[in-house]
Amino acid sequence: MAQFPELVFSGVQPTGNLHLGNYLGALKRFVEMQATHSCLYCVVDLHAMTMPHDPEQLRQNTRAVTAAFLACGIDAKKNIVFNQSRVSEHAELAWALDCVARLGWLNRMTQFKEKAGKDRENASVGLYNYPVLMAADILVYRATHVPVGDDQKQHLELARDIAQKFNNDFDASIAAHGHGDAFFPLPEPLIQGPATRVMSLRDGTKKMSKSDPSEYAHIALTDDADTIVQKIRKAKTDAEPLPGEVGGLAGRPEADNLVGIFAALGDETKADVLSRFAGSQFSGFKNALADLTVAKLGPIRAEIIRLNGDDAYVDSVLAEGAEKARAIARPNMDAVKDVLGLIR
Ligand code: AMP
Ligand code: TRP
Repeated sequence: MAQFPELVFSGVQPTGNLHLGNYLGALKRFVEMQATHSCLYCVVDLHAMTMPHDPEQLRQNTRAVTAAFLACGIDAKKNIVFNQSRVSEHAELAWALDCVARLGWLNRMTQFKEKAGKDRENASVGLYNYPVLMAADILVYRATHVPVGDDQKQHLELARDIAQKFNNDFDASIAAHGHGDAFFPLPEPLIQGPATRVMSLRDGTKKMSKSDPSEYAHIALTDDADTIVQKIRKAKTDAEPLPGEVGGLAGRPEADNLVGIFAALGDETKADVLSRFAGSQFSGFKNALADLTVAKLGPIRAEIIRLNGDDAYVDSVLAEGAEKARAIARPNMDAVKDVLGLIR
């Protein structure tokens, strides 16, 4: 298959306060990728409309996620930071890909089933179609690598299937228009490290999420030091001391989660952490974890708060990013039109 230049794309929904799971599973990884790659980081506001939403809240959340991107260390000069709805090529390509994706594929999406719940007939068509828009987000840039948390794995597989089917269905036209033997790369998910799925602090079998009703289930990037310490102190654990090896975490979801968080925050492995804390009680371990979390999140929180007071700057970052994004997306979308037989 054709070689595509390496390009990173990822998105975060502006649907509420970002939490430690978003940070360790996504944002921290985004920051790491920029050392070696060109990256596009997108606030996916169109995705945030798939569930009932408040317009003013959406505007604020879009700025808040942008502020979090910047506060975590994403360099908007070197990379492209923007909001999805500004670059209409995302929605335009989503329609073309809607005609490629199969109903059977979408029917298998577990996130839709979870979010739609029992009253599926009443879910928005947008919620159902969400993964196709996500594929368009990536493919409109022909991005090759997508850092995400574990929960997005199935959506990435779908994006690959859609890219592959487009390449197959239109191979003759792709070749005739001088695009080689493949139009889209098959985007690779990057789901790596000790915290690809951070779990609730109240229940080690449930994913940490923005929508958990318990305040103590997640640590928000905007939590202050006292709140972080409280939440970690109250985190659910079991009665055993910490094991000396990773194998000893099996069947201990809460212990596994806290050790994973520790490792990810400190850029080490779970084995590294356990080699120091083997045989420790949770009380001591939690103190160390709280100190580390406060040390890592404190500066990010301060910068988020500063940026939250400067909407004009945040808006200017989004506007500039959208210009740069469109400069890549438009020619790609024009080429898609040529391949599909749409006169332009
Ligand atoms: P969302 O807030 O759903 O748009 O998610 C933004 C990014 O954070 C995605 O890459 C998710 O996979 C990631 N993410 C969300 N929740 C978690 C979690 N509990 N653990 C690890 N990554 C997560
Ligand atoms: N669906 C992703 C989430 O909820 C957000 C997202 C939208 C995304 N488009 C994307 C992630 C493209 C990676 C690439 O987390």
